[in-house]
Amino acid sequence: MRKFILAIDQGTTSSRAILFNHAGQIHGTAQQEYAQIFPEPGWVEHNANDIWHSQLAVARQVLKEHDLNATDIAAIGITNQRETTVLWDRKTGEPLANAIVWQDRRTAALCDQLRAEGKAALFQHKTGLVLDSYFSGTKLNWLLKNVPGARAKAERGELAFGTIDSWLIFKLSGKHVTDTSNASRTLLFNIHSKQWDDELLGLLDIPRTLLPEVVASSGVAAYTYDALFGAPIPIAGIAGDQQAATFGQACHQAGMAKNTYGTGCFMLLNTGTQAITSNNNLLTTVGWTLDSGKELRTDYMLEGSVFMAGAIIQWLRDGLGIISSSNEVEALAASVPDNGGVVFVPAFSGLGAPYWDAYARGMIIGMTRGSSKAHIARAALESIAYQSADLLQAMQKDAGIALHELRVDGGAARNDLLMQFQADILNVPVIRPVVTETTALGAAYLAGLAVSFWSSTEEISAQWQMDKCFVPRMRQDEREHRMNTWHKAVQRSQAWDE
Ligand code: G3P
Repeated sequence: MRKFILAIDQGTTSSRAILFNHAGQIHGTAQQEYAQIFPEPGWVEHNANDIWHSQLAVARQVLKEHDLNATDIAAIGITNQRETTVLWDRKTGEPLANAIVWQDRRTAALCDQLRAEGKAALFQHKTGLVLDSYFSGTKLNWLLKNVPGARAKAERGELAFGTIDSWLIFKLSGKHVTDTSNASRTLLFNIHSKQWDDELLGLLDIPRTLLPEVVASSGVAAYTYDALFGAPIPIAGIAGDQQAATFGQACHQAGMAKNTYGTGCFMLLNTGTQAITSNNNLLTTVGWTLDSGKELRTDYMLEGSVFMAGAIIQWLRDGLGIISSSNEVEALAASVPDNGGVVFVPAFSGLGAPYWDAYARGMIIGMTRGSSKAHIARAALESIAYQSADLLQAMQKDAGIALHELRVDGGAARNDLLMQFQADILNVPVIRPVVTETTALGAAYLAGLAVSFWSSTEEISAQWQMDKCFVPRMRQDEREHRMNTWHKAVQRSQAWDE
């Protein structure tokens, strides 16, 4: 009997491999950080080979450290930073350029141009997305335009495009596939017909030959090369990290929502098999497609994405140097009773939902002679919660429901001060599960379902366990006052770098 599922969690700042047992508990984990490349202001790149090598290394390491081999692993589930765009040569398997990361703003002008041509509604109608440089389509257009020889090679069918899931699966198995959740982040995929869309490909000047085959999120998509782990392992789960986290939080029913505090902050509300179009600047996106053998079922989500959450704490450490490790932030912020009037708008990569302003820039306002690094740390933490409050408000308006609880996960969800403030400012109970590695867990569940390691979503839901519930206790007038101050600050940060 194969005892474990191996989850491969390729995130924005690190590659991780996590083993899960049948109870959905972590058996082992390995992690490697890799280089962030900032060639110009607003640009963010990764070396795709760094991603591959670090990911393979941690997968091998976790097996070795636990004295396991390929035959102990029932399946691999892959989850990944989404939208990040890789273009590679099908024959050599070598990338043509650095991957353009989801945070990269270099295609903002192309998005402006498409909007000026009146194309925003078409893109939203077909893809559920707003026209923003966040997504892969305009990044791929940039690579084809700017990498010497790329377009000619692409026209000859020699190149492949993929998000990080596709790239890793290609390196692991030689197959060129992606799942519906990752495809739904490209601006090229019609989320209703679940097909690549020729009209959108035409608008972004992208040859169809570049595109991967779209498969279910749960289903055997490929087998790893024998040589990599000693024997083939089925790759049976694929999902973008936010959708995987929603699955890992057991938000399987319409009306359930989670918020992940990773590099950015991503709130997803399950809307069931119905794709709800947002009127409040949120995204409609595919959650996952499950293949039961008899039928394919696709669940949709409303998503609010903000670009800076945990990354703000990293910046306090690396950019500002006021803490020397991320877990110091809670104590520093708690050393003052409140923010002392300081408000921090972390628009380092522009603002995502619900503002979508690629030209907004970071700002700290409200400082006086009494302001200290503790106030800045506190304001930085609070900004994470304010951004999430903006998302929740938009989401409730779109879905026409009031949320009764919000499940949380990701690194910063371990910060009690932040979680209490989040509950206070949302006026909704915030619930943290025992396993906060829900992204990797979700990928494991998707893979395990496909190979009958787990029998049903009901079995998975029964494994979800609460660690702590943060109950709101702020007065309504104070909540309103704080949100108003936040919105005033956001306004001032907008359209700065135009
Ligand atoms: O859309 C970007 C998102 O998938 C990145 O997630 O966890 O790497 O910050 P993370």
